[in-house]
Amino acid sequence: MSANRISRRAFTSRAAAFTFSAVTASKSLGQSSKDETVVIHPEIAVGRVRPELHGHFAEHLGSCVYGGLWVGEKSPVANVNGFRKQAIEYLKALGVPVLRWPGGCFADDYHWRDGIGPRAKRPRSVNIHWGNYTEDNSFGTHEFVELCRLIEAEPYFAGNVGSGTPQEMRDWVEYANYPSGSTLSDERAANGSPDPFRIRYWGVGNENWGCGGRMTGEEYATQYRRFAGYMRNLGTPLYLIACGPNSNDSRWTRGFMDSMQGRGYPHGFAMHYYQNLRVEPTRFSVENVQAQLAKFDDMEKAIVQQRALLDSYDPERRVGLLIDEWGVWDGMIPAEENKYGRLWQQNTLRSAVGAALGLNVFHRHADKLVMGNIAQTVNVLHAMLLAYEDKCIRTPSYYAFELAKPHRGKMAVRVETGDSSPLRLSVSASRQYGELVVTLVNPKHDTHLKVSCRLAGATASAASARILHHQNFNAANTFEQPDVVVPKQHAATADGARVTLELPPMSIVTATVKI
Ligand code: AHR
Repeated sequence: MSANRISRRAFTSRAAAFTFSAVTASKSLGQSSKDETVVIHPEIAVGRVRPELHGHFAEHLGSCVYGGLWVGEKSPVANVNGFRKQAIEYLKALGVPVLRWPGGCFADDYHWRDGIGPRAKRPRSVNIHWGNYTEDNSFGTHEFVELCRLIEAEPYFAGNVGSGTPQEMRDWVEYANYPSGSTLSDERAANGSPDPFRIRYWGVGNENWGCGGRMTGEEYATQYRRFAGYMRNLGTPLYLIACGPNSNDSRWTRGFMDSMQGRGYPHGFAMHYYQNLRVEPTRFSVENVQAQLAKFDDMEKAIVQQRALLDSYDPERRVGLLIDEWGVWDGMIPAEENKYGRLWQQNTLRSAVGAALGLNVFHRHADKLVMGNIAQTVNVLHAMLLAYEDKCIRTPSYYAFELAKPHRGKMAVRVETGDSSPLRLSVSASRQYGELVVTLVNPKHDTHLKVSCRLAGATASAASARILHHQNFNAANTFEQPDVVVPKQHAATADGARVTLELPPMSIVTATVKI
């Protein structure tokens, strides 16, 4: 029987959670141990795990681009055409399905012409959103596309609605995508790229309810129509992405969709969902951890509710739902920001557990989401890499993404877990032919879980697993000790209809099961 035997609609109509946990709590060393039963239905399809659900975002902010991804060709730091070599290698190994750029808030004050042509002649512009520093625009359109080619990512351009014009944005499309023969496409060729860039994903503004113009949903809809009307397929079919709500703001969504009056819908509608808790990253208390990780449950509800709201206008789902910024936003330490750049944030096991909870949410709602872009790739907020001078290290969250990688492209299947509390065991599963991938996340700081995964209608013949865990949820990888939190092999037993494994407190396990 095929993995998508049951339709997406049939699945969503049965989305209620069931309780199957047989709890046998026994206290030892301040921790309890709990037996959990998870039921996995390899035959009940949810939706394909689009690789884009594991997407990323890089902004001209702090040292994400300058000093992080881009060090310049003359840098003493090992580089490939100016791109930090170690970062390229790590990101290529991880696989970055899609990379959004240049912002963020920066996008709505970015003038793309500043970033083309000979670098020495590019203007210097002030980054008004992130510290009023001047940048030399040495990283622009061509550099971004080259970066994407190096790491094999699909580029996603975020265009300027806030301080830009429809002409500026339509010209960027022509410059990037028109094959040849127009003045703009010939200029691109003269700047080193005779072949069009074939950019498919275009954001029409960013957070236009906030830094991108402080508009209402209705006002933004008017702007969206103006800008989108001039963005045409010039050899590459465009996927236009409108600004969606801040978290679960239904007023924005209604305002936008009401004003669109059923015509000229965008292809995508991008909400932003940060898990804010302004506490220093390595000083989280148990209460802080619980408060922040519970916000991933809120994000799950927001996805369900925003999708349902969009469905009420657009039952055919012509408009895809994205989350093109998400992740933990902790408290910054001024001395670290001074040294490493704005919004530099250390990343801990707790951050990785957050990343894994988010990815599991995306997998479970693979029918509702088109893309997810964690913020941001290097040095800023919920980063995959930290880089400074000649050092570049992988964060625990990098490994959370690595553990989720085997799901990409597979069909997400239905899972039924234990309780429905915000800090419940989180599970997602996906399947392709005879391989089932299961990611389990234990967000509890004090409970060791013994998990039995019952496979409904399938037999498990073999299983292997990897785990990301550390006894201290504030543990971090540092430039001095880069391998404090790294994945390890983990025991998993396949026993016919069941796979059993254990999850210590604050751990992420991905099991690959032959069925
Ligand atoms: O990711 C940092 C900032 O967060 C982005 O620039 C903005 O879009 C959001 O508010």
